[in-house]
Amino acid sequence: MNQPYVFITRKLPEEAIAPLREKYNVHMWPHEDIAVPRDVLLEEAKKADALLTMLSDRIDREVIESSETLKVIANLAVGFDNIDIQAATEKGIAVCNTPDVLTDTTADLTFALLLATARRLIEAAEFVKAGEWKSWSPLLLAGHDVHHKTIGIVGMGKIGQAVAKRAKGFDMEILYHNRSRNVEAEQTLGAVYCSFEELLKRSDFVVCLTPLTKETYRMFDREAFRMMKKSAIFVNAARGAVVDEEALYEALVHGEIAAAGLDVFVQEPIDPTHPLLKLKNVVALPHIGSASTETRLAMMDLCCRNIMAVLQGEHPETLVNE
Ligand code: DGY
Repeated sequence: MNQPYVFITRKLPEEAIAPLREKYNVHMWPHEDIAVPRDVLLEEAKKADALLTMLSDRIDREVIESSETLKVIANLAVGFDNIDIQAATEKGIAVCNTPDVLTDTTADLTFALLLATARRLIEAAEFVKAGEWKSWSPLLLAGHDVHHKTIGIVGMGKIGQAVAKRAKGFDMEILYHNRSRNVEAEQTLGAVYCSFEELLKRSDFVVCLTPLTKETYRMFDREAFRMMKKSAIFVNAARGAVVDEEALYEALVHGEIAAAGLDVFVQEPIDPTHPLLKLKNVVALPHIGSASTETRLAMMDLCCRNIMAVLQGEHPETLVNE
């Protein structure tokens, strides 16, 4: 009998995919920093029993319907907005993601981005390296305090809650907005639920951690930025398309908000000539929320386990389309 065929859309370390190699015919796109071209993805999907995909791969209806053999798509991310879940479900294809293993790592990065933006760390480090440091001076690169301020978390899932835990350590007041109440965050961290509008008006730091859905698409629009304090700092570690980037740019340029820390963008990689990247009050990162070696290896391991479970006829650990 032919071995099941597994296609991995990006070069991953051999040690991470060894369990798949032992059992299946595994083919891997050979580049670490070049995404698999669309035509190759379509060709591979056609004959694959399993796909191990990246958040940057568009797994739409065309890809899904091109295959008569596909049984599982394991996405190396907690987010799965890059996959047409409806199309996969219609074809009986299991879609899996990588929650939990990345929660603390992503929360660490989100809080680091908040701190870096508030205290102007990137600007300050570049200033020293560029030899611009002439003398200590009272207001040199003075930023904004974080401790005892109000943080507003939009999207109080597991990562949101882990960010709230860090905020509590900084004696911050914690507000949140979510589809449903997070009783645990309220009881253990003193987080206070409020409407989106109230959160925007009251927060010193507005932190976006909501998944990208039809409902959250561009929820941070012109009006949302206008409602924020002029001293507010906006942090996005969720998905770029939750934000109207033009509106964000206008808000930053016209002083409607003070600064932004962005790990995600509408277009990734963002064009290096993008106007947002020209602003001093923007800290931009290349979507590295879960990027610690330990966590990325744990995510790969979970993807492998999910693929093996489905191909063996078992229930995968983290199925998205139950
Ligand atoms: C994910 O995995 O979806 C996040 O973007 C973490 O970087």
